[in-house]
Amino acid sequence: MRRKGRKQKEVRTLPNVFHGKPEEISDSLVKYFRNEKPLVLELGCGNGEYTLALAQKFPDKNFVGVDLKGSRIWTGAKKALALSITNAAFIITKADRLHLIFNKPVVEEIWIPFPNPFPLRKSIKQRLVHKRFLDVYGKICLQEAKIHLKTDAEILYQYALTVIEEEKLILVAATDDLYSSDLYKEENTIQTKYEQQHIKDGKSIKYVCSRLQ
Ligand SMILES: C[S@@+](CC[C@H](N)C(=O)[O-])C[C@H]1O[C@@H](n2cnc3c(N)ncnc32)[C@H](O)[C@@H]1O
Repeated sequence: MRRKGRKQKEVRTLPNVFHGKPEEISDSLVKYFRNEKPLVLELGCGNGEYTLALAQKFPDKNFVGVDLKGSRIWTGAKKALALSITNAAFIITKADRLHLIFNKPVVEEIWIPFPNPFPLRKSIKQRLVHKRFLDVYGKICLQEAKIHLKTDAEILYQYALTVIEEEKLILVAATDDLYSSDLYKEENTIQTKYEQQHIKDGKSIKYVCSRLQ
């Protein structure tokens, strides 16, 4: 079996990775965390760099990385186990199903680092900041929950600003050049795999923080 196939199979056996029916994922998360600490999500988490770094920094919160690709989650989940990080878990699912897993508002913050920009008109609906996703976030988030987006894509940055205005979210902060901005501090300095590559390629990193009403 090839490496990716092996990861896809193994990731489903890890104790900190949940998949399958929404209600089963929901039950498993409750059993896994066994506490009511505030919950933070990382969407399109890939290797889960935000989930791991934030979980280490904030032991009094729970962190869940979400990605539709199990082979990517494998890396973060294995690292979390190796480092005995117990306040982090991962879910293999599409982000538009999250309201079926969290059937009441429990999420206090969402990080979306370097989502696919989906530049073509026909795929705009796949953008993780499209209204269709914001509706899901609205169902699972606590009042005034913050949504953080990092991207290298100008098209996605501009789109996010438009959606925030149209959907009447509160714009907390935005920059089209994070590394030369005073917003480059604390959690914003955590780098994902894609971010490292974009920086190597000389791209500027854009950041938008908004708040649900
Ligand atoms: C460009 S990669 C970025 C990965 C990681 N955040 C990083 O910065 O290194 C985008 C990730 O989003 C995931 N993804 C795309 N659409 C998704 C969706 N609707 N639900 C969950 N994950 C999604 C992909 O599988 C992929 O791992």
